[in-house]
Amino acid sequence: MNVIEIKPGIYWTGAVDWAVRDFHGYVTPSGTTYNNYLIMDDEPTLVDTVKHDFVEVGVSNIRSLIDPSKIKNIVINHIENDHLGSLDRIMELSPSATIYITKRGRQGMDRFFDTTSWNIKEVKTGDTLKTGKYTLRFVETPMLHWPDSMMTYVEGAKLLISQDAFGQHLASTTRFDDEFTASVSMTELEDSVIDYYANILMPFGKLIKSKICEIKDMGLDIDMIAPDHGIIWRADPGKVLNMYMDMAEGKAKLQIAIIYDTMWHSTEHMTLPVMRGIIDEGVACKVIKLRATPMSVAIKEFWKSRACLVGSPTLNNEVFPSVAEFMIHLKGLRPTDRLMGAFGSYGWGGGAVKWLYDTFKNMKLPVVEPGIAVQYRLRNEDHEKCYEFGRNFAKTVREFHEKGYNTANSACQK
Ligand SMILES: Cc1cc2nc3c(=O)[nH]c(=O)nc-3n(C[C@H](O)[C@H](O)[C@H](O)COP(=O)(O)O)c2cc1C
Ligand SMILES: [Fe+2]
Ligand SMILES: [Fe+2]
Repeated sequence: MNVIEIKPGIYWTGAVDWAVRDFHGYVTPSGTTYNNYLIMDDEPTLVDTVKHDFVEVGVSNIRSLIDPSKIKNIVINHIENDHLGSLDRIMELSPSATIYITKRGRQGMDRFFDTTSWNIKEVKTGDTLKTGKYTLRFVETPMLHWPDSMMTYVEGAKLLISQDAFGQHLASTTRFDDEFTASVSMTELEDSVIDYYANILMPFGKLIKSKICEIKDMGLDIDMIAPDHGIIWRADPGKVLNMYMDMAEGKAKLQIAIIYDTMWHSTEHMTLPVMRGIIDEGVACKVIKLRATPMSVAIKEFWKSRACLVGSPTLNNEVFPSVAEFMIHLKGLRPTDRLMGAFGSYGWGGGAVKWLYDTFKNMKLPVVEPGIAVQYRLRNEDHEKCYEFGRNFAKTVREFHEKGYNTANSACQK
């Protein structure tokens, strides 16, 4: 992929990773990109670097525009490996460049590299760097999603370089939203935004909302958002801002995700009458079997749905391990505003359903009790009980959804 001018004198110099399928544990069925940007101004300035595996791609992109030793400034928006990884190589080629980074970023960067001979400038919100006709304005966004995260707004170009926020894991021959939606689809783009948010940013909803409001308050005139992964928003940057505001508000579909696993199919057989009860109540339903589904997909489907039923057999008095694994992922993502319930098959003492309710309560998620447990295989009356359980659960979910969420206000409060 060649360099691409995204604004006058500002170039995408990143790399497309078509092959990556596992990104620190999350599946990336469409690969990803490592975006970085070279501002060819009086002071040539590089914002972020590419993942180390792609360092020579990044360097040759830079070389096609400029001798790297002429780079004056390097901005590091956050120090995660996929964006900081090539910095040592870049500093070999541009030893006199000055690095702009937050205080925490600097402390972390010192753990990755020997920085003793590097020029480093710590920056905070409001600090600026004039590169010539452009001025960069730094906006700290701590915990979005690393403690040192910041964004860089390019005054004069109406461009927000937003590091991981607003990004998506999509390898593509297109760089911009309008190109992507024309050649692939808006649905795929939206789904990738949701996937990224659900798996990486779910814990930070409150912070996200207040940061977006802060950016709005700063009066930054933004007509392009360029994240560090995936597609650049130029046709409609407001689209991704609105999606983030909605997700930060906990917006979800009136839908129930049934997420389960099974040893001998009894818990699996329970999902069918439960699902029928749900859809007969007019609520959408999605059924996901763990071990047959990547964890990050299960998390995404959980997040899209207003409520979730988790199903597990009992194994050695415990919940089934793949279900426990799912719950551990979910707990770390600190979801709110999702109504929970549990079901499962057992043989003698049981325990999985209780374990699940204990876990939901520990996570402070609202629950519908009691759950439903069936001994060994389902009989006719168990099918009926499961159907009623699904139907009643869906009824409660609809009330929950209508009471609190169909009027979700995603505007910034003054
Ligand atoms: C290795 C193993 C350990 C089990 N441990 C328990 C247990 O401690 N308590 C219990 O109630 N049932 C236990 N069971 C029985 C299962 O929970 C029961 O067979 C259930 O119907 C399985 O549901 P499934 O068909 O959805 O896998 C165990 C089954 C197996 C195979
Ligand atoms: Fe990151
Ligand atoms: Fe990243």
